[in-house]
Amino acid sequence: MNKRRRRLVQASLLGGAVAAGGLLPACAQPARQGKTIEPRRNGSLRILVLGGTGFIGPHMVREALRRGHSVELFNRGRTNSELFPDLVTYVGDRNNGLAPLAGGRWDVVIDNSGYVPRHVADSARMLATRASHYIFVSSISAYADFGSPLDEDSPLATIEDETVEEVTNETYGPLKALCEKRAAEEFGAERVAVLRPTYICGPGDHTDRYTYWPVRTMRGGEMLWPGTPQDPVQIIDVRDLANFVTDVAEKRISGNYNTVIPAGSFTMGGLLADCQAVTAAEMNPVWVDYEFMQTNGAAEGNEFPIWVPPQSDDAYIARVSGARARAKGLTTRPTRETARDTISWWKTLPEERSGNLRSGLKPAREEKLLAAWKSRQS
Ligand SMILES: NC(=O)c1ccc[n+]([C@@H]2O[C@H](COP(=O)([O-])OP(=O)(O)OC[C@H]3O[C@@H](n4cnc5c(N)ncnc54)[C@H](OP(=O)(O)O)[C@@H]3O)[C@@H](O)[C@H]2O)c1
Repeated sequence: MNKRRRRLVQASLLGGAVAAGGLLPACAQPARQGKTIEPRRNGSLRILVLGGTGFIGPHMVREALRRGHSVELFNRGRTNSELFPDLVTYVGDRNNGLAPLAGGRWDVVIDNSGYVPRHVADSARMLATRASHYIFVSSISAYADFGSPLDEDSPLATIEDETVEEVTNETYGPLKALCEKRAAEEFGAERVAVLRPTYICGPGDHTDRYTYWPVRTMRGGEMLWPGTPQDPVQIIDVRDLANFVTDVAEKRISGNYNTVIPAGSFTMGGLLADCQAVTAAEMNPVWVDYEFMQTNGAAEGNEFPIWVPPQSDDAYIARVSGARARAKGLTTRPTRETARDTISWWKTLPEERSGNLRSGLKPAREEKLLAAWKSRQS
């Protein structure tokens, strides 16, 4: 994959936290908050979540608690630190600040916050004698190329200088691939599970990449839809990912797994139907073809998040095989449920947040593109 293409793919998959500076070094604060965990009950697991307070972490924490496991958290105390006042939270920075974890023992570690290989190596090394199982949340960005069908054995991205720690649109994927490698080296591959999600969506998503579509639909009027209704699109509902991660923990599963809805099961037309069904908005879709999008500089980048033009050389980003995870029990809910719950969550947000979509086409730009499209048609 050429450099420009990789940058664009990473740009579209990279979560908001890194871009928002979530990895800036902070001083470690070796403090311990919260109550002592319950003694272990029969069959229940002691789970340590590295990064349990962002977008996907809280869903995992709640699912694990719902199933009767005990959960402890490790993070810097910057993100949603009020979320779980009753859980033990070890406060520290992955950047040389793991000391607060020195005395603990866990059955499973869920690593949600690994972007830098050195951080993952340090935690996997330190926890190798303190935990039995390490689950690393990676990304499909870890793959080298999206120009042909992908499964877990497809080649991974590489980076020339493996000491690079700056997470950018370009380095995110190769660094994730290196993080996976470091986890296996330090913890032992037979005790490590690697999950590679595609676009994670649903309630709480701070990127608005999927959310843009139902929220924009709710606004009504003429709405630009890119490509064709047949264009494939692939997502994973954060709650399905949380269920699967908990299954992986309970069953002590190891190996690599793409966590995606089945390839070919969802299209842009399906997304449109979901958006219309859950918003009941008076919205007129205007499908605009790929050629027009290209000519107007709208076929790449983040103006149409999660849409991947089938004509582009990273078309298979929307058709990743999830068969291996399904064979281990991954189930995915109807996409309409994701749309419905995303809108319900959106409506609970304060206006300063809900008035400011973080992804998708800006209204003025949409108007301009629609006008250009119409003048070309007439
Ligand atoms: N969102 C997607 O579509 C997507 C797709 C594929 C893969 N992923 C992967 O999913 C994982 C989680 O994504 P997310 O969106 O839930 O992340 P997020 O919202 O940014 O949450 C990050 C969590 O990690 C903690 N954290 C961050 N930096 C830390 C540090 N240096 N030391 C200690 N704790 C730290 C944060 O708490 P503090 O700020 O308090 O430290 C927070 O609890 C990531 O590994 C990402 O690569 C996401």
